[in-house]
Amino acid sequence: MIAVENILRERLFDKERIVDLLNADANESKFIFNEAARIREKYLGKKVHLRGLIELTNKCSKNCFYCGIASSNKKINRYCLGMDEVERAIKFTDDNKYGSIVIQSGELQSEEFVSYVEKILHKIVEISWGRLGVTLSCGEQSEDTYRRWREAGAHRYLLRIESSDENHYYKLHPKNAKHNFQNRINAIKTLKETGYQTGTGVMIGSPFQTIENLADDLIFMRDLDIDMCGMGPYIGHEDTPLFQHKNICFSKEDRLRLSLKMIAILRIMMKDINIASTTAMQTLVNGGRELALKAGANILMPNTTPGIYRNQYALYNNKPGIDEEADDSKYSIEGLIERAGHEVAYSEKGNSKHYHKRMVSCAL
Ligand code: 5AD
Repeated sequence: MIAVENILRERLFDKERIVDLLNADANESKFIFNEAARIREKYLGKKVHLRGLIELTNKCSKNCFYCGIASSNKKINRYCLGMDEVERAIKFTDDNKYGSIVIQSGELQSEEFVSYVEKILHKIVEISWGRLGVTLSCGEQSEDTYRRWREAGAHRYLLRIESSDENHYYKLHPKNAKHNFQNRINAIKTLKETGYQTGTGVMIGSPFQTIENLADDLIFMRDLDIDMCGMGPYIGHEDTPLFQHKNICFSKEDRLRLSLKMIAILRIMMKDINIASTTAMQTLVNGGRELALKAGANILMPNTTPGIYRNQYALYNNKPGIDEEADDSKYSIEGLIERAGHEVAYSEKGNSKHYHKRMVSCAL
Protein backbone atom coordinates (compact mmCIF):
# COMPACT_ATOMS: atom_id res chain seq x y z
CA MET A 1 0.00 0.00 0.00
CA ILE A 2 1.33 3.45 -0.96
CA ALA A 3 1.09 6.21 1.66
CA VAL A 4 -1.83 8.56 1.07
CA GLU A 5 0.37 11.64 1.30
CA ASN A 6 2.61 10.32 -1.48
CA ILE A 7 -0.35 9.56 -3.75
CA LEU A 8 -1.72 13.06 -3.25
CA ARG A 9 1.67 14.61 -3.91
CA GLU A 10 2.39 12.58 -7.05
CA ARG A 11 -1.16 13.07 -8.42
CA LEU A 12 -0.98 9.86 -10.40
CA PHE A 13 -4.45 8.40 -9.96
CA ASP A 14 -4.35 4.90 -11.38
CA LYS A 15 -6.61 2.10 -10.17
CA GLU A 16 -4.18 0.74 -7.58
CA ARG A 17 -3.68 4.14 -5.99
CA ILE A 18 -7.39 5.00 -6.00
CA VAL A 19 -8.12 1.68 -4.27
CA ASP A 20 -5.51 2.62 -1.64
CA LEU A 21 -7.22 6.00 -1.14
CA LEU A 22 -10.63 4.34 -0.79
CA ASN A 23 -9.19 1.91 1.75
CA ALA A 24 -7.31 4.56 3.75
CA ASP A 25 -8.08 4.54 7.47
CA ALA A 26 -9.68 7.46 9.32
CA ASN A 27 -6.32 9.05 10.14
CA GLU A 28 -4.95 8.92 6.61
CA SER A 29 -8.32 9.96 5.16
CA LYS A 30 -7.87 13.37 6.79
CA PHE A 31 -5.23 14.15 4.15
CA ILE A 32 -7.71 13.28 1.40
CA PHE A 33 -10.44 15.51 2.84
CA ASN A 34 -8.01 18.39 3.46
CA GLU A 35 -6.74 18.19 -0.11
CA ALA A 36 -10.32 18.07 -1.51
CA ALA A 37 -11.22 21.14 0.59
CA ARG A 38 -8.14 23.00 -0.62
CA ILE A 39 -8.91 22.28 -4.26
CA ARG A 40 -12.58 23.13 -3.84
CA GLU A 41 -11.68 26.50 -2.30
CA LYS A 42 -9.06 27.25 -4.96
CA TYR A 43 -11.24 26.44 -7.99
CA LEU A 44 -14.79 27.15 -6.77
CA GLY A 45 -14.42 29.31 -3.68
CA LYS A 46 -17.08 28.90 -1.00
CA LYS A 47 -20.03 29.01 -3.35
CA VAL A 48 -22.80 26.44 -3.35
CA HIS A 49 -25.16 26.66 -6.32
CA LEU A 50 -28.79 25.64 -5.99
CA ARG A 51 -31.09 23.77 -8.34
CA GLY A 52 -34.81 23.79 -7.59
CA LEU A 53 -35.79 20.16 -8.11
CA ILE A 54 -39.07 19.17 -9.76
CA GLU A 55 -39.88 15.46 -9.67
CA LEU A 56 -42.08 15.60 -12.75
CA THR A 57 -43.41 12.05 -12.82
CA ASN A 58 -42.80 8.69 -11.15
CA LYS A 59 -44.08 6.83 -14.21
CA CYS A 60 -41.22 4.80 -15.63
CA SER A 61 -40.79 2.29 -18.44
CA LYS A 62 -37.77 0.63 -16.85
CA ASN A 63 -37.19 -2.05 -14.26
CA CYS A 64 -33.94 -1.26 -12.46
CA PHE A 65 -33.60 -3.76 -9.59
CA TYR A 66 -32.81 -1.11 -6.93
CA CYS A 67 -35.38 1.54 -7.76
CA GLY A 68 -38.71 2.07 -6.00
CA ILE A 69 -40.38 3.60 -9.06
CA ALA A 70 -39.50 0.68 -11.38
CA SER A 71 -42.50 -0.17 -13.57
CA SER A 72 -42.93 -3.58 -11.92
CA ASN A 73 -43.67 -1.98 -8.53
CA LYS A 74 -47.46 -2.10 -8.38
CA LYS A 75 -47.62 -0.75 -4.82
CA ILE A 76 -47.19 2.94 -5.67
CA ASN A 77 -49.60 5.43 -7.18
CA ARG A 78 -48.29 6.91 -10.38
CA TYR A 79 -48.55 10.67 -10.94
CA CYS A 80 -47.46 13.29 -13.42
CA LEU A 81 -47.46 16.96 -12.43
CA GLY A 82 -49.85 19.17 -14.38
CA MET A 83 -48.59 22.30 -16.13
CA ASP A 84 -50.11 24.52 -13.40
CA GLU A 85 -48.12 22.67 -10.72
CA VAL A 86 -44.94 22.82 -12.77
CA GLU A 87 -45.45 26.56 -13.36
CA ARG A 88 -45.80 27.15 -9.62
CA ALA A 89 -42.53 25.30 -8.98
CA ILE A 90 -40.76 27.29 -11.73
CA LYS A 91 -42.00 30.58 -10.23
CA PHE A 92 -40.95 29.48 -6.75
CA THR A 93 -37.45 28.65 -8.00
CA ASP A 94 -37.16 31.95 -9.86
CA ASP A 95 -38.69 34.10 -7.08
CA ASN A 96 -36.32 32.59 -4.55
CA LYS A 97 -33.31 33.25 -6.79
CA TYR A 98 -32.19 29.64 -6.88
CA GLY A 99 -30.62 30.31 -10.27
CA SER A 100 -31.31 26.88 -11.80
CA ILE A 101 -33.96 24.24 -12.09
CA VAL A 102 -33.74 20.46 -12.46
CA ILE A 103 -36.47 18.37 -14.04
CA GLN A 104 -36.18 14.78 -12.91
CA SER A 105 -38.47 11.95 -13.95
CA GLY A 106 -38.85 8.26 -14.62
CA GLU A 107 -37.67 7.14 -18.05
CA LEU A 108 -40.44 7.64 -20.62
CA GLN A 109 -39.93 7.89 -24.36
CA SER A 110 -43.46 8.51 -25.69
CA GLU A 111 -44.01 11.50 -27.97
CA GLU A 112 -46.54 12.74 -25.42
CA PHE A 113 -43.87 12.87 -22.72
CA VAL A 114 -41.14 14.30 -24.97
CA SER A 115 -43.35 17.16 -26.14
CA TYR A 116 -44.60 17.81 -22.59
CA VAL A 117 -41.01 18.29 -21.41
CA GLU A 118 -40.40 20.49 -24.44
CA LYS A 119 -43.37 22.66 -23.45
CA ILE A 120 -42.11 22.87 -19.87
CA LEU A 121 -38.69 23.99 -21.12
CA HIS A 122 -40.28 26.78 -23.14
CA LYS A 123 -42.26 27.76 -20.04
CA ILE A 124 -39.10 27.95 -17.92
CA VAL A 125 -37.47 30.29 -20.43
CA GLU A 126 -40.66 32.38 -20.67
CA ILE A 127 -41.32 32.69 -16.92
CA SER A 128 -37.72 33.41 -15.94
CA TRP A 129 -36.79 35.42 -19.05
CA GLY A 130 -33.93 33.00 -19.50
CA ARG A 131 -32.59 33.69 -16.00
CA LEU A 132 -32.78 30.07 -14.88
CA GLY A 133 -30.23 27.42 -15.78
CA VAL A 134 -31.93 24.15 -16.75
CA THR A 135 -30.79 20.60 -16.02
CA LEU A 136 -32.69 17.55 -17.19
CA SER A 137 -32.51 14.12 -15.62
CA CYS A 138 -35.05 12.17 -17.65
CA GLY A 139 -33.06 9.12 -18.60
CA GLU A 140 -32.03 7.52 -21.87
CA GLN A 141 -33.57 9.16 -24.92
CA SER A 142 -32.92 9.25 -28.66
CA GLU A 143 -30.44 11.72 -30.09
CA ASP A 144 -33.37 13.53 -31.69
CA THR A 145 -35.05 14.00 -28.30
CA TYR A 146 -31.85 15.26 -26.69
CA ARG A 147 -31.57 17.74 -29.56
CA ARG A 148 -35.20 18.90 -29.24
CA TRP A 149 -34.85 19.47 -25.52
CA ARG A 150 -31.55 21.28 -26.02
CA GLU A 151 -33.18 23.61 -28.56
CA ALA A 152 -36.09 24.19 -26.17
CA GLY A 153 -33.73 25.52 -23.49
CA ALA A 154 -32.13 22.65 -21.54
CA HIS A 155 -28.35 22.90 -21.34
CA ARG A 156 -27.33 20.41 -18.66
CA TYR A 157 -28.17 16.70 -18.47
CA LEU A 158 -27.50 14.13 -15.78
CA LEU A 159 -27.56 10.45 -16.78
CA ARG A 160 -26.07 8.14 -14.21
CA ILE A 161 -24.22 5.05 -15.34
CA GLU A 162 -25.00 3.56 -11.87
CA SER A 163 -22.00 1.21 -12.24
CA SER A 164 -19.25 1.42 -14.86
CA ASP A 165 -18.48 -2.32 -14.54
CA GLU A 166 -20.56 -4.26 -17.06
CA ASN A 167 -20.92 -7.36 -14.86
CA HIS A 168 -21.97 -5.31 -11.88
CA TYR A 169 -24.28 -3.19 -14.04
CA TYR A 170 -26.23 -6.35 -14.90
CA LYS A 171 -26.55 -7.24 -11.21
CA LEU A 172 -28.43 -3.96 -10.87
CA HIS A 173 -30.42 -4.13 -14.10
CA PRO A 174 -32.16 -6.81 -16.14
CA LYS A 175 -30.06 -7.96 -19.09
CA ASN A 176 -32.22 -6.89 -22.02
CA ALA A 177 -32.44 -4.29 -24.79
CA LYS A 178 -34.10 -1.73 -22.53
CA HIS A 179 -31.31 -1.85 -19.97
CA ASN A 180 -28.30 -2.22 -22.23
CA PHE A 181 -24.97 -1.19 -20.69
CA GLN A 182 -23.35 -0.04 -23.94
CA ASN A 183 -26.46 1.95 -24.93
CA ARG A 184 -26.25 3.81 -21.65
CA ILE A 185 -22.60 4.73 -22.21
CA ASN A 186 -23.45 5.78 -25.77
CA ALA A 187 -26.28 7.96 -24.47
CA ILE A 188 -23.86 9.81 -22.19
CA LYS A 189 -21.51 10.35 -25.15
CA THR A 190 -24.41 11.56 -27.32
CA LEU A 191 -25.33 14.10 -24.65
CA LYS A 192 -21.79 15.47 -24.78
CA GLU A 193 -21.87 15.62 -28.56
CA THR A 194 -25.23 17.40 -28.49
CA GLY A 195 -23.62 20.17 -26.50
CA TYR A 196 -24.99 19.54 -23.02
CA GLN A 197 -23.00 20.06 -19.88
CA THR A 198 -23.01 16.36 -19.18
CA GLY A 199 -23.13 14.59 -15.87
CA THR A 200 -23.12 11.02 -14.71
CA GLY A 201 -22.71 9.16 -11.43
CA VAL A 202 -23.04 5.90 -9.58
CA MET A 203 -24.65 4.38 -6.53
CA ILE A 204 -22.15 3.71 -3.80
CA GLY A 205 -22.18 0.55 -1.71
CA SER A 206 -24.81 -1.36 -3.68
CA PRO A 207 -24.92 -5.18 -3.41
CA PHE A 208 -22.16 -7.03 -5.32
CA GLN A 209 -20.08 -3.84 -5.67
CA THR A 210 -16.37 -3.90 -4.77
CA ILE A 211 -13.86 -1.20 -3.88
CA GLU A 212 -12.19 -1.97 -7.23
CA ASN A 213 -15.52 -1.22 -8.98
CA LEU A 214 -15.65 2.17 -7.26
CA ALA A 215 -12.09 2.98 -8.33
CA ASP A 216 -13.07 2.07 -11.90
CA ASP A 217 -16.13 4.34 -11.61
CA LEU A 218 -13.89 7.31 -10.81
CA ILE A 219 -11.58 6.47 -13.71
CA PHE A 220 -14.65 6.11 -15.98
CA MET A 221 -15.79 9.62 -15.07
CA ARG A 222 -12.35 11.08 -15.62
CA ASP A 223 -11.85 9.30 -18.96
CA LEU A 224 -15.26 10.43 -20.17
CA ASP A 225 -14.26 13.96 -19.14
CA ILE A 226 -17.65 14.66 -17.57
CA ASP A 227 -18.74 18.14 -16.46
CA MET A 228 -20.94 17.16 -13.53
CA CYS A 229 -21.47 14.29 -11.14
CA GLY A 230 -24.35 13.15 -8.98
CA MET A 231 -23.56 10.13 -6.84
CA GLY A 232 -24.74 8.89 -3.50
CA PRO A 233 -25.09 5.85 -1.29
CA TYR A 234 -27.30 2.92 -2.20
CA ILE A 235 -30.38 2.82 0.02
CA GLY A 236 -32.43 -0.36 0.13
CA HIS A 237 -36.09 -0.25 -0.90
CA GLU A 238 -38.13 -3.16 0.36
CA ASP A 239 -40.33 -3.37 -2.74
CA THR A 240 -37.41 -3.97 -5.10
CA PRO A 241 -35.68 -7.23 -6.15
CA LEU A 242 -32.24 -6.04 -4.96
CA PHE A 243 -33.50 -5.72 -1.39
CA GLN A 244 -33.13 -9.49 -0.87
CA HIS A 245 -29.35 -8.95 -1.07
CA LYS A 246 -29.25 -6.25 1.60
CA ASN A 247 -27.14 -8.46 3.84
CA ILE A 248 -24.25 -8.54 1.40
CA CYS A 249 -23.98 -4.81 0.77
CA PHE A 250 -21.65 -2.47 2.68
CA SER A 251 -22.77 -1.40 6.17
CA LYS A 252 -24.38 2.00 6.60
CA GLU A 253 -21.15 3.34 8.14
CA ASP A 254 -19.09 2.04 5.22
CA ARG A 255 -21.50 3.49 2.67
CA LEU A 256 -21.23 6.89 4.37
CA ARG A 257 -17.46 6.70 4.58
CA LEU A 258 -17.13 5.53 0.96
CA SER A 259 -19.60 8.10 -0.41
CA LEU A 260 -17.68 10.97 1.21
CA LYS A 261 -14.39 9.58 -0.01
CA MET A 262 -15.69 9.13 -3.55
CA ILE A 263 -16.72 12.80 -3.58
CA ALA A 264 -13.39 13.96 -2.15
CA ILE A 265 -11.27 11.85 -4.53
CA LEU A 266 -13.33 12.94 -7.55
CA ARG A 267 -12.89 16.57 -6.49
CA ILE A 268 -9.13 16.02 -6.34
CA MET A 269 -9.07 14.25 -9.72
CA MET A 270 -11.48 16.61 -11.54
CA LYS A 271 -10.98 19.95 -9.85
CA ASP A 272 -13.51 22.17 -11.60
CA ILE A 273 -16.54 19.92 -12.22
CA ASN A 274 -19.89 20.34 -10.48
CA ILE A 275 -20.54 17.68 -7.85
CA ALA A 276 -23.97 17.38 -6.25
CA SER A 277 -24.63 16.76 -2.60
CA THR A 278 -27.45 14.25 -3.07
CA THR A 279 -30.67 13.51 -1.21
CA ALA A 280 -29.56 9.91 -0.70
CA MET A 281 -26.72 11.24 1.52
CA GLN A 282 -29.34 12.80 3.77
CA THR A 283 -31.41 9.62 3.77
CA LEU A 284 -28.44 7.63 4.94
CA VAL A 285 -27.62 9.93 7.85
CA ASN A 286 -29.02 13.13 9.25
CA GLY A 287 -26.68 15.92 8.12
CA GLY A 288 -25.41 13.79 5.23
CA ARG A 289 -25.69 16.55 2.64
CA GLU A 290 -23.69 18.89 4.87
CA LEU A 291 -20.94 16.28 5.07
CA ALA A 292 -20.98 15.89 1.28
CA LEU A 293 -20.47 19.65 0.87
CA LYS A 294 -17.56 19.55 3.28
CA ALA A 295 -16.08 16.64 1.31
CA GLY A 296 -16.05 18.61 -1.95
CA ALA A 297 -19.59 18.83 -3.38
CA ASN A 298 -20.73 22.27 -4.59
CA ILE A 299 -24.33 21.77 -5.75
CA LEU A 300 -27.50 21.35 -3.69
CA MET A 301 -30.97 20.55 -5.00
CA PRO A 302 -33.83 21.78 -2.80
CA ASN A 303 -37.00 19.89 -3.63
CA THR A 304 -39.80 22.06 -5.04
CA THR A 305 -42.18 19.20 -5.94
CA PRO A 306 -45.64 19.85 -4.43
CA GLY A 307 -45.83 18.13 -1.02
CA ILE A 308 -48.69 15.78 -1.92
CA TYR A 309 -46.51 13.98 -4.47
CA ARG A 310 -43.30 13.75 -2.44
CA ASN A 311 -43.91 10.35 -0.89
CA GLN A 312 -44.84 8.94 -4.30
CA TYR A 313 -41.44 9.73 -5.80
CA ALA A 314 -39.92 7.16 -3.49
CA LEU A 315 -36.79 5.87 -5.19
CA TYR A 316 -35.75 4.39 -1.85
CA ASN A 317 -37.08 4.11 1.70
CA ASN A 318 -37.07 7.02 4.18
CA LYS A 319 -36.47 9.79 1.65
CA PRO A 320 -36.29 13.05 3.63
CA GLY A 321 -38.29 16.21 2.99
CA ILE A 322 -41.41 14.20 2.24
CA ASP A 323 -43.59 16.31 4.51
CA GLU A 324 -41.93 19.59 3.71
CA GLU A 325 -43.36 22.11 1.30
CA ALA A 326 -40.86 24.00 -0.85
CA ASP A 327 -40.65 26.89 1.64
CA ASP A 328 -39.41 24.74 4.51
CA SER A 329 -36.80 23.17 2.32
CA LYS A 330 -35.43 26.59 1.40
CA TYR A 331 -34.66 27.59 4.99
CA SER A 332 -33.33 24.23 6.02
CA ILE A 333 -31.06 24.33 3.00
CA GLU A 334 -29.65 27.77 3.85
CA GLY A 335 -28.78 26.63 7.37
CA LEU A 336 -27.21 23.49 6.05
CA ILE A 337 -24.92 25.40 3.67
CA GLU A 338 -23.85 27.81 6.41
CA ARG A 339 -23.12 24.95 8.79
CA ALA A 340 -20.91 23.42 6.09
CA GLY A 341 -18.92 26.70 6.06
CA HIS A 342 -20.08 27.66 2.57
CA GLU A 343 -22.23 30.38 0.99
CA VAL A 344 -25.37 30.21 -1.10
CA ALA A 345 -24.76 31.61 -4.59
CA TYR A 346 -28.17 33.18 -5.27
CA SER A 347 -29.27 34.18 -8.80
CA GLU A 348 -26.38 32.40 -10.45
CA LYS A 349 -26.75 29.54 -12.91
CA GLY A 350 -23.65 27.83 -11.57
CA ASN A 351 -22.60 26.31 -14.86
CA SER A 352 -19.82 23.76 -14.83
CA LYS A 353 -16.46 25.53 -15.06
CA HIS A 354 -15.09 22.35 -16.53
CA TYR A 355 -17.55 22.57 -19.43
CA HIS A 356 -16.56 26.15 -20.06
CA LYS A 357 -12.91 25.19 -20.22
CA ARG A 358 -13.73 22.28 -22.54
CA MET A 359 -15.55 24.63 -24.90
CA VAL A 360 -12.75 27.19 -24.91
CA SER A 361 -10.13 24.55 -25.70
CA CYS A 362 -12.36 23.15 -28.51
CA ALA A 363 -12.53 26.61 -30.07
CA LEU A 364 -8.77 27.06 -30.09
N1 5AD B 1 -30.64 3.93 -3.58
C1 5AD B 1 -29.92 4.99 -3.97
N2 5AD B 1 -30.12 5.66 -5.10
C2 5AD B 1 -31.12 5.24 -5.88
N3 5AD B 1 -31.57 5.69 -7.06
C3 5AD B 1 -32.61 4.94 -7.44
N4 5AD B 1 -32.85 3.99 -6.53
C4 5AD B 1 -31.93 4.15 -5.55
C5 5AD B 1 -31.66 3.48 -4.35
N5 5AD B 1 -32.38 2.42 -3.97
C6 5AD B 1 -30.88 6.75 -7.76
C7 5AD B 1 -30.32 6.22 -9.07
C8 5AD B 1 -31.05 7.01 -10.12
C9 5AD B 1 -31.45 8.25 -9.34
C10 5AD B 1 -32.61 8.98 -9.93
O1 5AD B 1 -31.77 7.78 -8.07
O2 5AD B 1 -28.92 6.46 -9.13
O3 5AD B 1 -30.24 7.34 -11.22
